[in-house]
Amino acid sequence: MKIVLIGFMATGKSSVAPVVAGRLGLDVIEMDDLIVEKSNAESIMEIFETDGEAAFRELERAVGKDLQHRDNVVISTGGGVVMDKTIMGYLADGGVLIELSAPFETLIKRISPDIPRPLFADVEQAKALYKLRRPLYSKYAAIHISTDDKSIDDVAQEIVKQVQNL
Ligand code: S3P
Repeated sequence: MKIVLIGFMATGKSSVAPVVAGRLGLDVIEMDDLIVEKSNAESIMEIFETDGEAAFRELERAVGKDLQHRDNVVISTGGGVVMDKTIMGYLADGGVLIELSAPFETLIKRISPDIPRPLFADVEQAKALYKLRRPLYSKYAAIHISTDDKSIDDVAQEIVKQVQNL
């Protein structure tokens, strides 16, 4: 089984993925980690600052391709994958796409201002991105789960239940 978590930044993908993987006996992959490994940088922020978003997206696409035929895995994606049809093709190949969602106000509260994130420096810009992408997460995913007011464990349990019913 290949489970792919999609959703906007701070919807809980990275926190929930290892718990789901543990429950189902699957590997866990954080796409952002593989992107950093493929780059010459130390962090996602550094890739954005040094080489720009286009370079980041190119690496993201290469990582997506590497994951096309991965199995027995839970993949935590970056929030921007839905903007690229090619990446979504790789992720959807043999995969179950699961959308994690929460209202924008919740996401803002979850994001620490002390840890800078690309694309989140300006709240209005982030909100515009959220509005643009929200319908895409819904469109691509077969399963939709709200993470608002829920613990990581609650969300993981919901995912396990849903995929076992497939
Ligand atoms: C991005 C989301 C980030 C990371 C990069 C770009 C986006 O991942 O891939 O900063 O475009 O929404 P998370 O969704 O895991 O924060």
